[in-house]
Amino acid sequence: MKYQAVIFDLDGVICSTDRYHYLAWKKIADDLHIYFDEKINNRLRGVSRMESLEIVLERYDGNLTEEEKRALAEKKNQFYVELLEQMTEKDLSAEVSKTLVELREKGLKLAIGSSSKNAKRILGRLGLGSYFDAVSDGTNIQKSKPEPEVFLKAAEFLQMEPDKCLVVEDAEAGIEAAARGGFDSAGIGEAALCEEASYKIESFRDLLNVV
Ligand code: BG6
Ligand code: MG
Repeated sequence: MKYQAVIFDLDGVICSTDRYHYLAWKKIADDLHIYFDEKINNRLRGVSRMESLEIVLERYDGNLTEEEKRALAEKKNQFYVELLEQMTEKDLSAEVSKTLVELREKGLKLAIGSSSKNAKRILGRLGLGSYFDAVSDGTNIQKSKPEPEVFLKAAEFLQMEPDKCLVVEDAEAGIEAAARGGFDSAGIGEAALCEEASYKIESFRDLLNVV
């Protein structure tokens, strides 16, 4: 086998939270009369909460203090967390769930590498609370993707070298982070269009042919 571990991005790879992020940011944008659409929302993939806010504010004319920005990010998170309450184990697709089991049966270690501070909450809702061998997320990093820190931490938690781990990502920022950290990567969805992705996969199950 080429790899000993797989590090998965969470949002957009293991589960689909894009819509919830969109709805929560949309509320913030509407309150401030800022134009916001799905295309802008796509640019927030893999990017930290505060950096996402800066992208939303690109179309804002006024000036906000750091404190006001923090309050807006906090408000967005409250909306988002409320929406996450709708998630259940049924939101974990059969394909993802079966593939994870098969990867593990092949002897691979499995970890999460997510910029989100809500990663553990989401894993809990999906019934994956203690499934992964390691979880590296927004709570244990200083710099989010495209910096490689979140993946390097995941590898460290697994006690593995980056060249033994495959990163799975749906965001360009994540593919770049993997490359900067010395990881091979599999791009899914929009990330399958990234030049830097080591593998371009069409569906989650294709991972079984990559490892
Ligand atoms: C990433 C999402 O997983 O987490 C981003 O792709 C999001 O869109 C980031 O901004 C931070 O999430 P949270 O849950 O900490 O606000
Ligand atoms: Mg993602």
